[in-house]
Amino acid sequence: MTAAGTFGYGTEYRHLFDIQKLGAIVCKGTTLEPREGNPQPRLAETACGLLNSIGLQNIGVKALIREKAPIWASWRVPVIVNIAGETVDDYAQLAHQLEGVVGISGLEVNISCPNIKAGGAEFGANPESAARVTAAVRAATSLPVLVKLTPNTGEIARIAAAVGEAGADAISLINTVRGMAIDITTRRPLLGNKTGGLSGPAIKPIALAMVYEVAGAVDIPIIGCGGITTGRDAIEFIMAGASAVQVGTASFANPRAPLDVLEGIEEFMRKEGIEDIAELIGAARH
Ligand SMILES: Cc1cc2nc3c(=O)[nH]c(=O)nc-3n(C[C@H](O)[C@H](O)[C@H](O)COP(=O)(O)O)c2cc1C
Repeated sequence: MTAAGTFGYGTEYRHLFDIQKLGAIVCKGTTLEPREGNPQPRLAETACGLLNSIGLQNIGVKALIREKAPIWASWRVPVIVNIAGETVDDYAQLAHQLEGVVGISGLEVNISCPNIKAGGAEFGANPESAARVTAAVRAATSLPVLVKLTPNTGEIARIAAAVGEAGADAISLINTVRGMAIDITTRRPLLGNKTGGLSGPAIKPIALAMVYEVAGAVDIPIIGCGGITTGRDAIEFIMAGASAVQVGTASFANPRAPLDVLEGIEEFMRKEGIEDIAELIGAARH
């Protein structure tokens, strides 16, 4: 899958490679109303990573339903809509509005965005609020519900378990790791929002350890994300317990990265004589 916020609405990439070969496309985080996002600058490169503070710039759910869903309806690749809100009711309303829309195959509930003032990661920071949002979305939709967790907590396993009990069909992790950069010539934080979320290869070991931990805490499928750039990275996440993976920041340097990762997984399986990926899921846990 593509990771939310790193692959637009999929439409931007369809002329670059055959996106229909992917497992799924997760679109940019979507809110009830359109958002302009945070002040610039919103991106800063770091060693082996990327800091962003986009702040959920998006076209809003109504425009998404009107302009994007009809395009997705003709695609083979399923599209999952990443949703974010400031209140539990926002999430429920988003799920309700997206219910029955042709072209949408699932919801990914973003309770982990570090870059917005209200809502976002606050909901993902403790088991009770994470469960409340999950239950509200579950009650408002018949679509598969993925809940995306933040690494910016000390209790990710408990949060995952609570989300599972509240009705999530799958868990995706991780969102970005809270971080910062300072411009030493201006003596000011580099990002307009001061802090941002770190992604890319720098966070892969953190993400991998969290997938491993969460795999021991829930029975529902896990979608691993964080720094995946190659098929071999993806195999590590699968061996840690993920049933699927998402590719995010890697797409910025190489737009074909999600497909390269998929082909890399297939190549590894061929070389190792593995016919069913299920043989590898959680292999490092036994
Ligand atoms: C520029 C940018 C925008 C993002 N926007 C979203 C978003 O809208 N919703 C969300 O759940 N995650 C968002 N993320 C987080 C990614 O989906 C992913 O969880 C994270 O970047 C870690 O994966 P990666 O290292 O492969 O990028 C964003 C990440 C980046 C770099």
